[in-house]
Amino acid sequence: MADLATPGHPLRVAIFGSGPTGFYATDHLFKARGATVEVDLYDRLPTPFGLVRGGVAPDHQKIKMVARAYERTAQNPRFRFYGGVEFGADIRLADVMRHYHAVIFSVGAQVDRHLPIPGIELPRSHAATEFVAWYNGHPDYRDREFDLSRESVAVVGVGNVAVDVCRILARSVDELKTTDIADYALEQLAESRVREIHMLGRRGPAQAAFTNPEIRELGKLEGADIRVLEEEAELDPVSAEWVASGQDRAAPLKVKILQQYAAEKRSGKPRTLTVRFLVSPTELIAGPDGGVETVRLVHNELFMDDRGKIRNRAIDRLEDLPASLVFRSVGYRGVPLPDIPFRDDWGVIPSEEGRVLDAPGGEQVTGQYCAGWIKRGPSGVIGTNKPDALETVKSLLADVEAGRHWNPGAPSAEAAERLVRERAPDYFSFADWKKLDAIEVARGKEQGRPRVKFVSVEAMQAAIRPA
Ligand SMILES: Cc1cc2nc3c(=O)[nH]c(=O)nc-3n(C[C@H](O)[C@H](O)[C@H](O)COP(=O)(O)OP(=O)(O)OC[C@H]3O[C@@H](n4cnc5c(N)ncnc54)[C@H](O)[C@@H]3O)c2cc1C
Ligand SMILES: NC(=O)c1ccc[n+]([C@@H]2O[C@H](COP(=O)([O-])OP(=O)(O)OC[C@H]3O[C@@H](n4cnc5c(N)ncnc54)[C@H](OP(=O)(O)O)[C@@H]3O)[C@@H](O)[C@H]2O)c1
Repeated sequence: MADLATPGHPLRVAIFGSGPTGFYATDHLFKARGATVEVDLYDRLPTPFGLVRGGVAPDHQKIKMVARAYERTAQNPRFRFYGGVEFGADIRLADVMRHYHAVIFSVGAQVDRHLPIPGIELPRSHAATEFVAWYNGHPDYRDREFDLSRESVAVVGVGNVAVDVCRILARSVDELKTTDIADYALEQLAESRVREIHMLGRRGPAQAAFTNPEIRELGKLEGADIRVLEEEAELDPVSAEWVASGQDRAAPLKVKILQQYAAEKRSGKPRTLTVRFLVSPTELIAGPDGGVETVRLVHNELFMDDRGKIRNRAIDRLEDLPASLVFRSVGYRGVPLPDIPFRDDWGVIPSEEGRVLDAPGGEQVTGQYCAGWIKRGPSGVIGTNKPDALETVKSLLADVEAGRHWNPGAPSAEAAERLVRERAPDYFSFADWKKLDAIEVARGKEQGRPRVKFVSVEAMQAAIRPA
């Protein structure tokens, strides 16, 4: 169609996933020079913003302000939000092809990466993904149970998610009660008997995945001392050389911070957070009640592989760490969408510059694009998704220009809305979300908190459409 993407024939794009990536992709499409684009942004949850609402820690409110930029994008008259509408369940690929010229998948990485060691499925062993979603009031996770009566907890992994989990476990109630943490989580954390938190890194301090502001923050908690073992803070020769080479500009400061922690005395705060290095869990061992009681660790040494990456390998030294609550925080993973190619080994949609491929290294699938965590894997901060979405949008627009797009039979906003009404009559529009948002913020104001979240879809519905 020669006049596609003009006011007479707007380019219609469906985007599934309203996290940062979905909003950045929308914004890039609206800003495309000389193209008139209509975007319908879908999410399986009634609420928008993905991990900004359901992942970013409740004590990091400033970061959540990024949603204000997304709200500005949503004001475009060619934008529609369909919350509570799931790709694969409510809407299938064939439906999308009837109503749009192209689709972008920005569904993120919804589950945890496996940690295949014996005992990982024992009671009291959990994925950090679930704990994070629970304390943030994600409707699918609000019923999860975590036994916070345990004194000693192990968190496997030393990425920023592991830091979030440790910090939330270590915070005092006074620190948490001014946040938007889910009410039930606040109540249960108030009763927590957790005293010892162990964060477990398989490589050394120089290779820790957490960022410097995050590890610094752990040293300033009201109710918890931070502890690093001196011998584990020392750099081995391979790491020392690598740090000195300047390949990772953050590494020298990271090592310095950790060595300072190692040199400090504990001040006697009620909780202790110990950051360990060069240890890998090999097995979770059950206690008499059948739940995890001990984490068996093997100590590691580091070596540089053929590609110049510093890796860990086990040495002949085991340690049994008493811990009767375990969170594995070893990364997230995407899940396959019905009828859409998927690369199972990496947990992503196979793609090149955002164009979906029928297999890794295979042929382009017309009309299908992906962006964000489902495209490149679960790494990077919120801002990383902006250039990532731009790459995808550029590919999409170049293909449209070249005539490579779907030719839908009914490309109108009204026809798509009729379909949504039929499949998911209780969907949330952006105006519905704004109503819910206002109620949450008002409830928060009464308690001196940024908001009090609704944590079930039924309660969200009831709040904006009272019977
Ligand atoms: C625990 C945690 C804390 C983080 N904290 C920070 C931080 O403090 N600062 C920072 O800069 N970065 C942080 N990040 C990273 C940041 O959140 C990610 O880079 C970003 O959210 C990825 O964006 P995305 O849009 O690709 O995915 P997501 O944010 O996960 O959004 C995906 C969206 O897709 C929806 N969806 C899934 N499946 C379907 C479907 N089938 N149909 C329709 N919709 C679907 C989901 O409901 C979700 O809304 C954090 C990440 C995690 C995991
Ligand atoms: N405040 C923030 O800005 C913030 C907050 C949360 C998340 N995020 C971002 O979100 C992204 C995801 O964070 P993430 O923490 O989930 O992932 P991540 O940064 O990739 O960290 C994963 C951690 O798990 C470890 N790990 C992986 N497999 C393991 C195994 N088999 N055994 C032991 N340890 C293992 C990794 O160690 P190796 O390095 O040895 O592989 C690493 O320490 C990151 O980019 C992060 O920066 C940002």
